[in-house]
Amino acid sequence: MKLDTRIVRAGISPDPTTGAILPPIYETATFVLEEVGRDKGFDYTRSSNPTRQVLEENLAAIEGADYGICFSSGMASVDSVMKLLSAGDHTVSSNDVYGGVSRHFNRVLTRYGLDFTYVDTADPDAVRAAIRPETKMLWIETPTNPLLQVTDLAAMAEIAKEHDLLFGVDSTFATPVFLRPLEFGADIVVHSTTKYLSGHNQIIGGAVLTDREDIYNEMKFIQKTIGAVPSPMDCWLVLLGLKTLHLRMARHNESGNRIARFLEDHDKVARVRYPGLPSHPQHNIAGAQMDGFSGMLSFELKGGITAGKALMNSVELCALAESLGAVETMITHPATMTHAEVPAEERHARGLTDGLVRLSVGIEDCEDILADLDRALAAA
Ligand SMILES: Cc1ncc(COP(=O)(O)O)c(C=O)c1O
Repeated sequence: MKLDTRIVRAGISPDPTTGAILPPIYETATFVLEEVGRDKGFDYTRSSNPTRQVLEENLAAIEGADYGICFSSGMASVDSVMKLLSAGDHTVSSNDVYGGVSRHFNRVLTRYGLDFTYVDTADPDAVRAAIRPETKMLWIETPTNPLLQVTDLAAMAEIAKEHDLLFGVDSTFATPVFLRPLEFGADIVVHSTTKYLSGHNQIIGGAVLTDREDIYNEMKFIQKTIGAVPSPMDCWLVLLGLKTLHLRMARHNESGNRIARFLEDHDKVARVRYPGLPSHPQHNIAGAQMDGFSGMLSFELKGGITAGKALMNSVELCALAESLGAVETMITHPATMTHAEVPAEERHARGLTDGLVRLSVGIEDCEDILADLDRALAAA
């Protein structure tokens, strides 16, 4: 089956009892056994649930993975992957990661003896130089939130292999429509399903995909032991959103490209970061490993923070909101919203300026989004 067909159909068959074309929402905590030691494949929803199982199979097929495991948030997915490590283990991570991820690494996981080094993973030599004898994990976000940095995944897979590292990729911004990290040698792919995969700002969720049976078994164990599982209702809502993923991504990508070019040509804009623009430092790598660039971009105005705030306060169609990847266009100020808890010094060191504006281009008519931005830029 081709990707678009897998998105709509994979893992989903008519309900055997009623013929319902959509999977039932099995909102139940427990399952009655037929006799001691004999169940019908399910015993307790924290361990597994039929609605969640359909979502896990559908997501695995879309990613081209052998196995999928779903979690109650993107952060729960990241946390569960990190639980593959033990105290004393070291991770080399992309320096520009979602603020919630760096907060979790630095302020929670370090308390449990894990150690992290952040490098510009667009530079393979910097990654090699950061590896130590106790390094166990290479953690890549690509494209990154919010600077849209792109990492060459094939180069990272080579390094991971040379040093016997687990290679995990947070592919939330790209989705499997535009990037399939397992094809480049990643061991683990993580998504916040809150974003493009569900696509309608309707749930918080996460997923881990892998081809490795040993990782799958360990992740299943962690999933049922810790219990950060999505509700059956939320799984069903993700399944419903997923059905149009390819159509939505095509529009996000088309409008993202158009808006990135419009902003780059605008007098008030100092710099636009969008992997689809030839001016993007990793444009060639992005073009080679991705099939599209989605609707995520960030930019800075010549007037800095004051102009950025005026713009964000003047938009009407674009929603000033914290999330991304949904049908509605959302505008965000990373320094006070998504990355507010990254200490200012660290933010500035990694190029995340106070004037940076992040835009998640939705699927409204692109002319309307452009008109809203144009009008708000006049006020900035
Ligand atoms: C790249 C990336 N990874 C992970 C997460 C965390 O996902 P969630 O909010 O579903 O926990 C986010 C959230 O914005 C994100 O942007």
